Amino acid sequence: MTVENREIIIFDNIERIADYAIEKWTELSSRAIADKGHFAVALSGGKTPAVFYQKLSERKDLPWSRTHVFMVDERFDPYDSEANNYHMINRTLLCHVTIPANNIHFISTVENTAEDSTLRYEESLRSYAKKAKTQYPLFDLIFLGIGEDGHTASLFPGTPALLETKRLAAAVAPPLDPESERITLTCPVINSAKNIFFMATGGNKAAVIKDVIKNKKSKLPAALFKQDGNRVCFLLDKDSASKLPGK
Ligand code: 6PG
Repeated sequence: MTVENREIIIFDNIERIADYAIEKWTELSSRAIADKGHFAVALSGGKTPAVFYQKLSERKDLPWSRTHVFMVDERFDPYDSEANNYHMINRTLLCHVTIPANNIHFISTVENTAEDSTLRYEESLRSYAKKAKTQYPLFDLIFLGIGEDGHTASLFPGTPALLETKRLAAAVAPPLDPESERITLTCPVINSAKNIFFMATGGNKAAVIKDVIKNKKSKLPAALFKQDGNRVCFLLDKDSASKLPGK
């Protein structure tokens, strides 16, 4: 189904979502490498994508040497903490594939403040964009999750980072847990990605998915990314799609 130019694809479970996402990764990476010699992808944290990362890590045949991996967001927690997104992505995917260390653009959290980490990440985003001679680091593919409050990346409802139009990344104090600071890509960077894939599973997400997809006036962060010369696709399991009309 398509709603406001956004594709909605419903699968039986996360395993099927992962298979589809790997198929698209394979397709888009070979196309990007044919076009420009490398593939740039941005990955989210959270629980939902772990199965996808584990399955993807088995694909040793993929062009990892020409793949650049960026982070969508990060918790301002040390690498070895369970809350650290890079830690999860490294453990489930990156440490199992042969990808050059310089191709992994993680968000460092050893700085004194989340703002310092943000500035450092912006430097790496800018230098990548500079090499590609573009204003934004044009990702070929970006994977986003959706929180029950409608946040995506670490763009939470009503936070100033949502209104950012110049910066490539922002430090965020989540409204419900301001002590657990985050670093996130901003809307202009996310929107400049050629392919935006949302992944969501579970009945606890059904209400917010209905709002994000069906409510034309929704101001929830996950509802902000409508097709703008790129492809926006929601990969949902049956439970998270259960409140969509006709489901
Ligand atoms: C993070 C994510 C965040 C996540 C949603 C959904 O750092 O947590 O980037 O945006 O995608 O919170 O999280 P779950 O997949 O755990 O439900």
